[in-house]
Order: sequence, then structure tokens, then C-alpha cells
Amino acid sequence: MNSMDDIDGGADQRLSSPAARRNRQPILEILEAALPPTGTVLEIASGSGEHAIHFAAALSRLEWQPSDPSELARQSIAAWRKEAGLANLRAPLALDVTGRWPAIDNLAAVVCINLLHISPWSASEALFAEAGRALPRGGKLVVYGPFKRGGQHTAASNAQFDADLRARDPGWGIRDLERIEALAVANDLDREQIHALPANNLCVVWRRG
Ligand SMILES: C[S@@+](CC[C@H](N)C(=O)[O-])C[C@H]1O[C@@H](n2cnc3c(N)ncnc32)[C@H](O)[C@@H]1O
Repeated sequence: MNSMDDIDGGADQRLSSPAARRNRQPILEILEAALPPTGTVLEIASGSGEHAIHFAAALSRLEWQPSDPSELARQSIAAWRKEAGLANLRAPLALDVTGRWPAIDNLAAVVCINLLHISPWSASEALFAEAGRALPRGGKLVVYGPFKRGGQHTAASNAQFDADLRARDPGWGIRDLERIEALAVANDLDREQIHALPANNLCVVWRRG
């Protein structure tokens, strides 16, 4: 999903994001290898909840904790969760990444998909500061989305998307991976992997040092 505007709501409270349905399997393949064997995964900005359902179903060894500050999103996550009936999928938390995060029992990883470019820079700063604070040693932070590399867009479509985002909100925009990496370093997060995924997106994995 590029924004909540792109979610097609059904007659019930479940929202559906075409982008989430397209990217969930490539992201899952990275999560399967990157996430720790046990523990709780906190998903920031879960949106419709379709990622949470897909990942919790496939990664039954982990507890999945979705979250979103939007009530509409949380209602959607709750509706998908009710239908799925997965024992390892928790009820969604009202969590704004820029606030103090609640304590999560047995936290092993933080996953954040398509937030950093659709939020002010302070959200990126908060994600890395809070993940660095909350994760135990060896815990993982996995971030997915479009990024610039070396100050350059990696595709013309990303440049257009960036212009559209900045027109909607001057504080939004596709981030430089190097600036994000500086946040990681400052918060004791060591980069493990960068995966190039379809549609000019990256999935980046950091490990708490
Ligand atoms: C583009 S959607 C991505 C949703 C989902 N991760 C996906 O990829 O389908 C962005 C989401 O970020 C959430 N969001 C916006 N500001 C946020 C913040 N400060 N903290 C946490 N989530 C936020 C929105 O409510 C929305 O659900």
C-alpha cells in the first residue's frame, strides 16, 4: 500500500492493500531466514493487517504483534485476525513509532514495512532509537520500502513516487539508505543484509549489537 487512500475497504472492517498482497511473499522469504527462531515480533505500521496474517501463519514458531496508530487500520487488523484464528497472532496495539513503545514480552525482532517514506524524518529517527533501545542483543530490525542509494533514485518510478509524496507532504519522501544507515550505527544496529525486491524496493536487515 502506498497510503491508506489506496486501501480498498470491503463491506466489513477488513481493508485490502493490493501492494501488500504482491510484496508479502518476497518479504516472507527474507523473514524466514532473518528472524530469530523464537520470540515476539513487533510489527510497526501494520496497515490493513494482511502482512501480519500472512507472516503469522507461515512463522508459527514466532508470536506476531501487529500495531498501528490508525483506528481504521487496527479495526482491519482485528477483523482479519478474527477470521484467521491464528494462535500466534496478537491483537493490534495502538502504537505511534514516535512515542514511547510499550514493553513487549520476549521481543526478538521489529518489522517495519512501508512507513519511512510516508512519515516525517522524526519517524525514521524514532524507529531506530526505539528498536535499538528495546531489542535484546542479537535481535533483528527488518525494514522494507523504497530507498535512494548514494543520493540517487534507483528507478524513474521511484523519483516520480518521491515527487508525489513530497507534494502531498513536504516532510515525506524516499529516504537515503546512507542516512538510514547512520541512524542504525548510532543506535547499535549492525547491518546484516540488503535484499533488492520487486518494484524497486529494498528489504534491509539489521542486528542489535
Ligand atoms: C503505507 S501504509 C503501510 C502499511 C503496511 N505496513 C503495508 O505495507 O501495507 C503506512 C502505515 O503507517 C501508519 N503510520 C503512519 N504514521 C505512523 C507513525 N507515526 N507510527 C506508526 N505507524 C504510522 C499508517 O497508519 C499506515 O497504516
